[in-house]
Amino acid sequence: MADILLVEDEPAHAELVRRAFDRYGEQFRLVIAATLQEARSQVAAGRFSLIITDWRLPDGEGTELIDAHVPVVVMTSHGSERLAVDAIKAGALDYLVKSDSALMDMPHVAERALREWNHVIQRRAVEDELRLRVSDLEAVSRLSTALRTADTLEDMVARLMDETLALMNTAHGGLWLYHAVAGKLVRVAARGNSEAGFAPTIEANECIIGKSFSSSMSVAAKEFITDPNLDSRNTTIQPGWGGVCLPIHTAHETIGVLLIGVELPREITLREQNLLTTLAEIAGNAVHRTQLHEQTQKSLHRLSALRAIDQAITGSMDMRLSLSILTEQARTQLNVDAVSVLTLDSNGQMLEYCIGRGFDTKFAARTRLRLGEGYAGVAALERRPIFAPDLSVTGSATGRHELSTSEFFRAYYVVPLIAKGHVKGVLEIFHRSPLQPEPDWVNFLEALAGQAAIAIENAELFETIQRSNTELIMAYDATIEGWSRALDLRDHETEGHTQRVTDITIRLARAVGVPEEALIHIHRGALLHDIGKMGVPDNILLKPGPLTDEEWVSMRKHPQYAYEMLYPIHYLRPALDIPYCHHERMDGSGYPRGIKGDGIPLAARIFSIVDVWDALRSDRPYRAAWSDEKIKEYITGRAATHFDRDVVSVFMALIQ
Ligand code: C2E
Ligand code: SIN
Ligand code: SIN
Ligand code: SIN
Ligand code: FE
Ligand code: FE
Repeated sequence: MADILLVEDEPAHAELVRRAFDRYGEQFRLVIAATLQEARSQVAAGRFSLIITDWRLPDGEGTELIDAHVPVVVMTSHGSERLAVDAIKAGALDYLVKSDSALMDMPHVAERALREWNHVIQRRAVEDELRLRVSDLEAVSRLSTALRTADTLEDMVARLMDETLALMNTAHGGLWLYHAVAGKLVRVAARGNSEAGFAPTIEANECIIGKSFSSSMSVAAKEFITDPNLDSRNTTIQPGWGGVCLPIHTAHETIGVLLIGVELPREITLREQNLLTTLAEIAGNAVHRTQLHEQTQKSLHRLSALRAIDQAITGSMDMRLSLSILTEQARTQLNVDAVSVLTLDSNGQMLEYCIGRGFDTKFAARTRLRLGEGYAGVAALERRPIFAPDLSVTGSATGRHELSTSEFFRAYYVVPLIAKGHVKGVLEIFHRSPLQPEPDWVNFLEALAGQAAIAIENAELFETIQRSNTELIMAYDATIEGWSRALDLRDHETEGHTQRVTDITIRLARAVGVPEEALIHIHRGALLHDIGKMGVPDNILLKPGPLTDEEWVSMRKHPQYAYEMLYPIHYLRPALDIPYCHHERMDGSGYPRGIKGDGIPLAARIFSIVDVWDALRSDRPYRAAWSDEKIKEYITGRAATHFDRDVVSVFMALIQ
């Protein structure tokens, strides 16, 4: 039965309507009010399905009764249809023009009006639903956009949290992601009550959050504190708020839980839960994508870090430079506060600080640990990495308590550096907050340790090669001097001819401007200049008289012999110019090749002057020594034809 309120000040009209309804039957119950005031108190007292009112009432206008929740039909008199239109605009459901027949037909009007009102209500519900869906879609789209532009997981998580809370119009929420190595849910965001209420790390099936995670289902609680799903362990939860936990999944797995809380008496509606489920889905995909992206980025960075270190090691024999690049890369790529390398001393007993990054004090640089002492010493002795997650408990076990008391390091990781089966030292990682090393992180650390070991090994190898090279060269040079002395003796040269021409050649070369680094080769070349005479038979070499043409052929082969003897010795190759070319002449009349001018190596042009000068000062089996005057004339006379004119003038000034 529908209650209908008729507001009619004209008793005759009211009577007509009453009779009409009476005849109509039980379907309607009619209440009549004669004034606006009376109508208002009736409306306040009961719920009417329909109000039919005169437009004009003694104490006001019927349109004042119009309200969104009850349909109102307004009656006007003839000639005032314009008012009826205004009434409709003001929200009246319908109007009718008063006449006796209209009044008597009122039950049909009421019936029609109620039917129409039903439609209005349904339409409104649909509109409301549409509005909500649009606003949900907007929320979803806003969140998607926000998450898409986030670069890092951290950034994304913050946006997810803030957007979701703004959307839900609440201040309380948190996000936990599952950390595979720790085997726990780790809080990555917390707002409002959630911060103090729920623990930062939660076991995978602990309390309402863990239950949502392990079941992969939403779990709602009207009030957290009284919810049976809440473990007694979570005693910090305040009363007066409840909410819902939503699992966050990727395509393959559940990766975390989103908690949204509201203060009582509010409860999260089903519609809100549905929306949150959608948001959690978006979040799952975004988190997954960001994690993948971060992992890829990390792998790429780490790969290029390894390449850079490789290049540093192969490109430089400077171990400190290689390790300096390595420790810097370690610090950045492993995202830790400090890194150091300790190397084992030559006795293999002491680990000593070699290089470090990120230390605030000088304590680390003073590190000296015996094998077996502290974590580093044990790592080196037992050839295994050691991880100390919390130095506040085991700080002194680094063997350097200052590293926890003054540098405030919390976590520590040490890896032995092993190359070709030998321990070279250790790589140490320090962090001022806890570390939860993931397999990737550990792999990279181990790769770095391998590189560091190679860098140290290379440096040692290089040092050894350098040392043995130096020793070899010293041995060679001693041999060369021995040869040249033997040659002098065989040639019956005056004692010290070779040594003398060598000394003077060096002085002349310096005076001519030959660079210092070339002098060592000139030195060796001069000492060996007539080494080729070893191939000249004694009867020719030691002949007391002039040589025959045939003998000259043999004698003139001595530079070629020198070339053949010395060329195979790598380190003497740069010294060949003098032994091979010291009998060439500027005009091309020399031997063995008859080369000319600048085509003759400068070292040979320098040397030949000194050689002839010294030869002529000495007695030979075939002639006596010449006078200095005669020698000078001889050489000066052959400047330009035999000798280099410029070098001759420098030489003349030198022997002055
Ligand atoms: P060496 O005795 O060491 O002489 C080196 C160069 O000094 C000679 O190259 C030549 O340019 C100059 N020189 C030495 N002694 C004389 C000299 O008495 N007169 C002149 N004008 N120049 C002299 P060279 O001529 O190509 O000779 C190469 C080597 O042949 C000499 O080395 C020496 O071992 C040998 N040799 C040269 N002439 C004779 C000779 O008459 N009898 C013998 N037994 N050996 C000779
Ligand atoms: C070094 O330590 O010898 C290299 C310089 C640096 O630390 O960058
Ligand atoms: C230790 O190595 O455990 C003691 C040494 C220290 O605390 O410095
Ligand atoms: C990192 O991998 O970059 C940080 C260390 C960790 O939490 O595993
Ligand atoms: Fe010679
Ligand atoms: Fe000579």
